[in-house]
Amino acid sequence: MRAVDVIRKKRDGGKLTPEEIAFFVQGAVSGTGWMPYQVSALLMAIYFRGMDLEETACLTQAMAASGQRWDWSDLPGPVVDKHSTGGVGDKTSLILAPLAAACGVYVPMMSGRGLGHTGGTLDKLEAIPGFRVEWEPEQIRSILRDVGLIMMGPTAAMAPADRILYALRDVTATVESIPLITASILSKKIAEGIAALVLDVKCGRGAFMKHRPDAEALALSLQQVGTAAGLRLVTLLTAMDAPLGCCIGNALEVKEAIETLQGRGPEDITALSVRLAAHMVLLGGLADSLAQAEARVRQALQSGQGLERFRRCVMQQGGDPRVLDRPELLPQAPHVEAWRAPRAGYVAALHADRLGQASMLLGAGRARLEDTVDPAVGIVCRVRPGQKVSPGECLLEVHYRQDQSLKAALPLLEQAVILEDGPPAALPNEPLVLHTWG
Ligand code: URA
Repeated sequence: MRAVDVIRKKRDGGKLTPEEIAFFVQGAVSGTGWMPYQVSALLMAIYFRGMDLEETACLTQAMAASGQRWDWSDLPGPVVDKHSTGGVGDKTSLILAPLAAACGVYVPMMSGRGLGHTGGTLDKLEAIPGFRVEWEPEQIRSILRDVGLIMMGPTAAMAPADRILYALRDVTATVESIPLITASILSKKIAEGIAALVLDVKCGRGAFMKHRPDAEALALSLQQVGTAAGLRLVTLLTAMDAPLGCCIGNALEVKEAIETLQGRGPEDITALSVRLAAHMVLLGGLADSLAQAEARVRQALQSGQGLERFRRCVMQQGGDPRVLDRPELLPQAPHVEAWRAPRAGYVAALHADRLGQASMLLGAGRARLEDTVDPAVGIVCRVRPGQKVSPGECLLEVHYRQDQSLKAALPLLEQAVILEDGPPAALPNEPLVLHTWG
């Protein structure tokens, strides 16, 4: 078999066989038979020609099989994870993982770092002084068994094909391909050895998928390929037009996640975290219905069991657990500037994409993979969509370190809060859950 023939076949719209897909993935990882420019050429051919369900499922399995696969069969409970396609202000992982763990689910949560205007769970966790996200396999096993959850970065041995392919996709404009995204996300989850998975596909201004038909196509692809791979799966399509919760930026989001676990969080973040955790409990076989699962999760929230799980997680992963009671111990930006309403009106929209980009320019996110993030900076939205505001009222609090970064973010901030004279007919992010599959 030759790489050039496989590339030509896909370029001309052909369907690749399982052998050809395996040859491609093994070649991309080992370098035998495939030069990086040939791997890139096939990625581009897939971008234009697509892959059917069978090909996508094959690619997913081949990528999952490119490295180590975890086995959790020695744990006494169900092993379930959640994955989100990324949004602005989305700190639900920090809330739902301890809540699900408090209900008896084991959560080996493998997360990523932020890139572009969306944040990454690992960056948020590392805002907690001392918190470590890199662990050896035996340590991972022991933390998961003890605490019921671990929040970690991908290990080098897990789905190495995804790392190699993603790096090439990133520089060849082939990230935005539904079969490639599906295989990338699910190969890592299959390698994680979980029994079930809850997927949160975001849709809207602040999401990777801005338009509903694209987001639905991705959700359906994930649901079908995941099911074909033997995972028990639920996929939710959720709105991402306005930021989730009020805080954007790593330490600010950790603080909001803690407040949510204390029962004092914004309604949208609380509702979505509870819903996603409830699906994890239901998929784990620990409830008979979604309503029963939600009741269990709400009980874990109200009783403080979720908060205590998070405390144990922070302690076991080397973080300073005092931040749960004293958020001022989290990194804090040296300057805070209020962005005020220029006139009276109603908040018609809070543009998640502009706020996410502004936060990135303040230093909270990365424009390139190699950038470092500033844990302290970010934005707090002091108003919610639909709210009436008076002239001079604080709309946004901007937490920044350097005047230069504030200056860079200002044009975006100016366009981020849309004021109208009357109350808006429809509110962004409502309803939050647009559709559920599975
Ligand atoms: N997230 C992933 O893990 N992979 C992609 O390809 C896109 C988003």
